[in-house]
Amino acid sequence: VNIRSNVYPTAALREADARHHWHPFTDTASLNAEGVRVIVGADGVWLTDSDGNRILDGMAGLWCTNIGHGRPEIAEAVNAQMKELSYYNTFFKTTHPPAIKLAEVLAEVTPPHINRVFFTSSGSEANDTVLRMVRTYWQVAGKPAKQTVIARRNAYHGSTVAGASLGGMGAMHGQGGLPIPGIHHIAQPYWFGEGGDQDPNAFGVAVARELEKAIDEIGEDKVAAFIAEPIQGAGGVIIPPETYWPEIRRICSERDILLVVDEVICGFGRLGTWFGSDYYGVEADLMPIAKGLSSGYLPIGGVLISDKVARMLENGGEFFHGYTYSGHPVCCAAAIENIRILREERIVERVAEDTGPYLQEKWRQLGEHPLIGEARMVGLVGALELVPAKPSREKRFLAEGTAGTICRDISFKNGLVMRAVRDSMIISPPLVISHEEIDELARRVEKTLDDTLVALRKEGMMG
Ligand SMILES: Cc1ncc(COP(=O)(O)O)c(C=O)c1O
Repeated sequence: VNIRSNVYPTAALREADARHHWHPFTDTASLNAEGVRVIVGADGVWLTDSDGNRILDGMAGLWCTNIGHGRPEIAEAVNAQMKELSYYNTFFKTTHPPAIKLAEVLAEVTPPHINRVFFTSSGSEANDTVLRMVRTYWQVAGKPAKQTVIARRNAYHGSTVAGASLGGMGAMHGQGGLPIPGIHHIAQPYWFGEGGDQDPNAFGVAVARELEKAIDEIGEDKVAAFIAEPIQGAGGVIIPPETYWPEIRRICSERDILLVVDEVICGFGRLGTWFGSDYYGVEADLMPIAKGLSSGYLPIGGVLISDKVARMLENGGEFFHGYTYSGHPVCCAAAIENIRILREERIVERVAEDTGPYLQEKWRQLGEHPLIGEARMVGLVGALELVPAKPSREKRFLAEGTAGTICRDISFKNGLVMRAVRDSMIISPPLVISHEEIDELARRVEKTLDDTLVALRKEGMMG
C-alpha cells in the first residue's frame, strides 16, 4: 500500500490492515470480518475517511486534540526542533532547552503549589510513575508501610500494568491477572446509575465517605494515596455531584494520604479551566497529564508534582525511574507550541465563557429527546444516557451496551464521531469548535437519536 498517494483504495487498505495490524481495545476477529474504518486526513474538527467522507470529530481523537487537527504552527515547531536537536535524554545530569522551557511553561499554567514535572510519553506511563512516586514518598517519609493506593471502580488510568490496576475496569482486570496487589477500589460518584433514591448531593457525600471507610478498614498507616479523575472520562463522562470533591479533599488531608488527580482528559482546558482540579477547587498532590498537553500531535505526558511531594522526594536520594523518551525534545516542542496556542487564542477561556455554555444549552435540549434519560456536560465534555422508558432511571436496556453500540454506528453513518460507553453516548470535541460547528454537531446528534429510536423500536428494545 502506497500511503503517500492521495488516492486511497479502501479495500486494499482494509485487507492489509487485517493481515498485519493488531489494534488496541479491539475484538480482532470481528473487526476484520467487518472491515476497519480508514481516516486519511483531518483539519480543525473535521476528519476525512478513505472514501472522501467528512466526519465531525466529536471525540477530539481520543479526548486529546484540544486545539483541533492540522495546525501548521505545530508542524513548524516540530520540524525546527527536529533539525536543531532531534533527540537527547534527560538522564545522567543532562537536559535540553525544550524540556526546560516546557517545564517552566507548565509551572505557569498550573496552580501555584505545583512547580515541577516528571516527563513521560503517555498517560499510562504517567500513572506508572505515580504509583512508584507515592510509594517512594512514604518510604522517604519514614512510613514505609503506607503503600496501598485507593482508586475507584469504573475509573480509567491507562493500560499498562499499573495503569490498568489503578483503573477499575472489570474487563481489563479479567485479562492478565490484574489488579496487582496493593490497590483497593471503592465506589464511583455515578448518581444517574447508582444513586438510587438519594438526592445527588447527599449521594456525593456518601460516596466520598467510602474513602474514609476504606482508609479505616485498611488502616491509615497502610494507605499511600487516593487517585481519581476529576470527571471520569472512559467510564462514561461521570460528573460527580458538587459535594463530592470537597469531601474527598477533606478526607485526604485529615487522614494524611496523598491525593492524585488524574488530569489526562480534564487537563488543558476540557472543563473551561486549565485543569479539572481548578474547576473543582481541589488542591492535588500529584497530577498525571498527557493528551491535551500536546493536543495529541506527538506522544507526551507527565506527572505534575506539588511542592510538598517534591520537598519530600528530594530527601530520598535517587528516584530509580525514568523513560528513554522522558522529556523528548521534539515532543516538548509540540507541547510548548500547543500551550502557546491555547494561551494566545484564549481557548480555555472561550470554553468557559462561550463555546461551553453554547453547547451545554444544545445538550440540555437534546436531553428532552424520548430516548435520553439524562444529558450532562461540563465545559466541552458530556454524555447522553440512553434509556428504554423515560423518565425512569431504574429501567435500563436489558443487554447493556447494545443500544449504545447501535447508536454509535448510526452516528458514524450520520457523519459524527460519538463514543458509546455502555448505553451512554459521549462527546468531547476539539476545544476550538465554532458555533456553526456546534450547531452542526447538535443537528447530527438529533438525527442520530431519531434514527436510533426507530432502530431500537424495530428491535423491540424500547418499552
Ligand atoms: C484519565 C486517564 N488517565 C490515563 C489515561 C491513559 O493515557 P494513555 O492512553 O496516554 O496511556 C487515559 C486515557 O484515556 C485517561 O483517560
